[in-house]
Amino acid sequence: MEQKFTSFLLLCLITISICHADPEQLQDFCVANNPSTDTIINGFLCKTASSVVSDDFFFAGLSQEGNTNNRFGSSITPGNVLSFPGLNTLGLAINRVDVAPGGVNPLHSHPRSSELVFVMKGNLLVGFISTANKFYSKVLGPGETFVIPKGLFHFQFNVGNSTATAITLFNSQLPGVVSAPLGLFGAKPAIPMDVLTKTFQVNSSIISVLESNFGN
Ligand code: GLV
Ligand code: MN
Repeated sequence: MEQKFTSFLLLCLITISICHADPEQLQDFCVANNPSTDTIINGFLCKTASSVVSDDFFFAGLSQEGNTNNRFGSSITPGNVLSFPGLNTLGLAINRVDVAPGGVNPLHSHPRSSELVFVMKGNLLVGFISTANKFYSKVLGPGETFVIPKGLFHFQFNVGNSTATAITLFNSQLPGVVSAPLGLFGAKPAIPMDVLTKTFQVNSSIISVLESNFGN
């Protein structure tokens, strides 16, 4: 009897783990209802379907060149669920990246997403570092694409003489960004100095310069 019960339990467990319920979404769409406030565990509450309009699936935010007149010489215009609520639950986001000659979209990673970089104009050196500390890179021209695997640090650097523009695509509605310079040297509260000097094997005056550059 006990053995039958154990077998039954085992069967239940196997069935539950194989037939995991509805991993995909259960409706055509779930336009986020005010994503800035109605946060739920994994995404945002849906607008009532009857109040959804065509404009909820439209985003013009990437039509203008971003302002690259800043210390990095680059601009990122995000098209994620926060700016484009129609993306809610769809597992997609899209950014526009503009980079002035010699400018860089500095090293950063996206903890929740891989990224496709599609160059529209200009020439960008695009690169990432793998978990084996190998550097992979390519110079891309218009119409060319590079893929950045999920979570890896990457950048885009303009190696041309004119502003370069790329569209980046993500398999997450909110990829998240960890910026290497801003995270390490601009974190609030600051990472303890001893941790940074020991990590980078430099003295505190070098760390202080980096911190004053990036916010601390
Ligand atoms: C580029 O790397 C981007 O995150 O849009
Ligand atoms: Mn990126």
